[in-house]
Amino acid sequence: MSIVPDKSVELTVDEAGALASARPMLKFERVGFEYDGRSIMRDVSFAVRPGELVALLGPSGCGKTTILNLVAGFIQPTEGVAFIDNRDIAGPGPDRGVVFQAAALFNWMTVADNISFSLRCAGRPKAERQQVAEEMAALVGLSGFENAYPYQLSGGMRQRVGLARVLAAKPKVMLMDEPFSALDVQTREVLQEEVLRIRERTGCTILFVTHSIDEAVFLGDRIFLLTDLKDGAFDELAVDLPSPRDSGENRLHPAFIRLREMIYRKMRH
Ligand SMILES: Nc1ncnc2c1ncn2[C@@H]1O[C@H](COP(=O)(O)OP(=O)(O)O)[C@@H](O)[C@H]1O
Ligand SMILES: [Mg+2]
Repeated sequence: MSIVPDKSVELTVDEAGALASARPMLKFERVGFEYDGRSIMRDVSFAVRPGELVALLGPSGCGKTTILNLVAGFIQPTEGVAFIDNRDIAGPGPDRGVVFQAAALFNWMTVADNISFSLRCAGRPKAERQQVAEEMAALVGLSGFENAYPYQLSGGMRQRVGLARVLAAKPKVMLMDEPFSALDVQTREVLQEEVLRIRERTGCTILFVTHSIDEAVFLGDRIFLLTDLKDGAFDELAVDLPSPRDSGENRLHPAFIRLREMIYRKMRH
């Protein structure tokens, strides 16, 4: 079925809204990638809706980071096309932000200066930088720590700074590559809830790479279960948990436990 409207048909506001939201924020069309002639993935196709959070779950070496690198524009497909917002991804851009496992913070700069670093690079004035730093510090729960230095912070707080620094550039898409895997379980769970809150407030589309079944189920609207991308096949699972999604109680919900068990069995298969 085509989603392009017949020109003779007048669209209501609701229908126009539905059409706009039907347009994916990210799309892979039969994407293939090779490193030095060695095929890493072939024929990978998927679409991600604006504001959706997709968790990429799979074993080491299956190609999760390669997918993020393709979306970030750090590398180009060797076959097929990757799109963001209907445009070919030709290279990196400010519409995408990447959060890595360890936030590479500037240790000689305050939290506020770390957060607003991209604005300084863009030549924005100090008052604006300060305002954005405060706004983003509040968004990630770091209000009051703007003048602290990274060495004064815990691992979880450093990751919050990393998150705020990416958010300060107001990306449409956040690419998160196992961002919490070095943190203790409690800190990790708090930050997962924070990610859902941030997504709610910013409307950001998020690709979240993880090794953890629990993390994928708690965060994802959908989970892509990757094993070997060389034939383009992977399982897509919809996650249906009660709102608000950021409630820690969801971890105890029967649907959470069922889905976790189902994925565990699939991965062990
Ligand atoms: N720079 C590179 N050069 C050659 N091969 C690479 C490079 N980066 C990753 N690979 C290979 O590509 C495959 C997928 O890697 P990656 O996307 O990092 O997996 P994951 O993030 O799921 O652990 C692996 O087999 C890895 O060895
Ligand atoms: Mg990886």
